[in-house]
Amino acid sequence: MLVLGVESSCDETGVALYDSTRGLLAHALYSQIAMHNDYGGVVPELASRDHIRRVLPLTRQILAESGCSLADLDGIAYTQGPGLAGALLVGAGMARALAYALDIPAVGVHHLEGHMLSPLISDKPPEFPFVALLVSGGHTQLMLVEGVGRYTLLGETLDDAAGEAFDKTAQLLGLGYPGGPALSKLAASGDASRFTLPRPMLHSGDFDFSFSGLKTAVLTLVKKAGVVAAPDIAAAFQDAAVDVLVTKSLAACKHSHARRLVVAGGVGANTQLRERLTREAAARGIAVFYPRMEFCTDNGAMIAFAGAQRMAHAAPELTFAVKPRWDLATLEAV
Ligand code: KG4
Ligand code: ZN
Repeated sequence: MLVLGVESSCDETGVALYDSTRGLLAHALYSQIAMHNDYGGVVPELASRDHIRRVLPLTRQILAESGCSLADLDGIAYTQGPGLAGALLVGAGMARALAYALDIPAVGVHHLEGHMLSPLISDKPPEFPFVALLVSGGHTQLMLVEGVGRYTLLGETLDDAAGEAFDKTAQLLGLGYPGGPALSKLAASGDASRFTLPRPMLHSGDFDFSFSGLKTAVLTLVKKAGVVAAPDIAAAFQDAAVDVLVTKSLAACKHSHARRLVVAGGVGANTQLRERLTREAAARGIAVFYPRMEFCTDNGAMIAFAGAQRMAHAAPELTFAVKPRWDLATLEAV
């Protein structure tokens, strides 16, 4: 089954072709980061308009690259939510219209399910069950995953998401948007032991997170030490955030008797997080699975893949609605 995937929930237009027997055939991405950088964050209306400009040329590009034609498609998957309403509508409208014209099914995919299943786009995918650490710009969750759509929430952030904490800290240090990659690059030249920042909820005994206190501690530190100490502050922040993410993820694995841990979402691209998790998990006999680096952040491949898992159950519909807010634990099992 050949599935076209379309991602347009935020500031990246992603498209991909995934074949359930041949695997990923092609994918393409257009990032709007440069456009939003001038504003210090994503401007929703500009994002929607840019998705409109990019989605069809990118789709033509991957069809040409893979030697496929529209007639070869068996279904179309698009991000239905959560995300920016206007941005979601671009991908949903395009996918639904094209599917109707081609008389094939279209299926709306949960963006976080896309992220969570992205490590399965691999020659050696992890088997179910596994614990998933979802760390994106908008979400931080620990999930027990027993199959596609069989998700139990173990814990989540009570305030800021991990990526949001990276972005806000980067902003306080005068770095651009998105802050995660810039902050971790700066941290590499810093001394993490010069300052100690709090590890919120490290010993709370549950799997919930809180990152807003850490951000406030950074603000106080920046005022005291000045931006000249930015590399050391960045290193101390990264140390604290990674410490909490690693400790809670391993505790969730222990609690669920899971031998496999999957990490997904933009913060999953963080090198220090990857190094520490892999090392500390291995010491406990737990294998850690990551998406390909390029599939940590938003992309069309994860939507095409998740869509392919759900396509057999897709009901032909003429009307559709996007879901800017959507709870992952409410999805139906397939
Ligand atoms: O999953 P994603 O692309 O978009 C959402 O669905 O939110 O995640 C974007 C987030 C941003 O907050 C960005 O700063 C963060 O992932 N991020 C990183 C790194 N690369 C991206 N955070 C820490 N270290 C990185 N290397
Ligand atoms: Zn995302």
